[in-house]
Amino acid sequence: AERELQGHFEDKIARDQRVEPRDWMPSGYRETLVRQIAQHAHSEIIGMQPEGNWLTRAPSLRRKAILLAKVQDEAGHGLYLYSAAETLGVDRSELTGKLVSGRQKYSSIFNYPTLTFADIGVIGWLVDGAAIVNQVPLCRASYGPYARAMIRICKEESFHQRQGYELLMTMMSGTAKQRAMVQDATDRWWWPSLMMFGPPDGDSPNTRQSMEWGIKRHTNDELRQKFVDMTVPQAEALGVSLPDSGLVWNSERGHYDFSEPDWAEFRRVLKGGGPCNTQRVERRRSAHEDGAWVREAAAAHAAKQAARGEA
Ligand code: ACO
Repeated sequence: AERELQGHFEDKIARDQRVEPRDWMPSGYRETLVRQIAQHAHSEIIGMQPEGNWLTRAPSLRRKAILLAKVQDEAGHGLYLYSAAETLGVDRSELTGKLVSGRQKYSSIFNYPTLTFADIGVIGWLVDGAAIVNQVPLCRASYGPYARAMIRICKEESFHQRQGYELLMTMMSGTAKQRAMVQDATDRWWWPSLMMFGPPDGDSPNTRQSMEWGIKRHTNDELRQKFVDMTVPQAEALGVSLPDSGLVWNSERGHYDFSEPDWAEFRRVLKGGGPCNTQRVERRRSAHEDGAWVREAAAAHAAKQAARGEA
């Protein structure tokens, strides 16, 4: 019977049909999805911190309203993704427990500090730009609830990307000091943004299997290249330089060549040694503890409602 179910599953993947929560699936497929979706959800929630840091210091009411909306969207993305993970038989409190105890990862990018308001623009442009390149193909992932969550997330990410670019355009038409802030933020975020796509294909243990299962549709290096090709003309339009002297158009390949990111730094950040890892996880842990009374009150309310319903 197991063999028949396996055949059924493989058939579905081969025909590019969606796998749904009640369908039989191999345990490795389920584990891979839980790992990736949880890491993705954690990234959205942890990702609120570097930008939330500027909410009280936004330079105008308009910028504050935009930033507030964006940070709230990220909370929403985290919730859609935790819900998608829950369809696989795990629960959100268990996943949060794994995040705060360091047993599950979140994106390396959120372990870097936001030093000036230009960082808000550059995060929108580069970080959300990279997120879109990585996430649009996930709208076609083989697992239905994940793919469907990604459609809405990608729409919102594209608004995030535009608000960042528009902020940078404004700053670039401002004073020399503002332009220098944008250049400095670009220099600091460029390499970490390239690292968001994950290790080079030769060092990526999960890519081959995830592609066979139709979870990932492209390799890490393919998406990184796509991001570089897309971003170079945007940098030119903006009037900033990208901090890589090896960045040149290769007409034979039809792509930009670029230098290797510092993979030792990437590994260090993944192991907890980035500039803000400790602060990010600690902040998440204390926010979770501070919110205990809300969860208790909601549970007590739900229990009371249920008891009334029975009576
Ligand atoms: N930050 C932290 N961990 C990473 C990163 C990164 N940038 N890139 C790869 N890793 C981890 C992987 O999770 C994996 O760890 P694990 O096996 O212990 O779980 C390990 O490094 C090896 O990498 P891969 O074999 O390439 O792993 P995978 O196939 O999962 O690919 C990728 C990594 C591309 C990030 C994939 O998981 C993915 O597309 N995830 C969904 C998108 C996402 O999570 N985005 C979050 C940031 S964007 C945002 O929130 C705005």
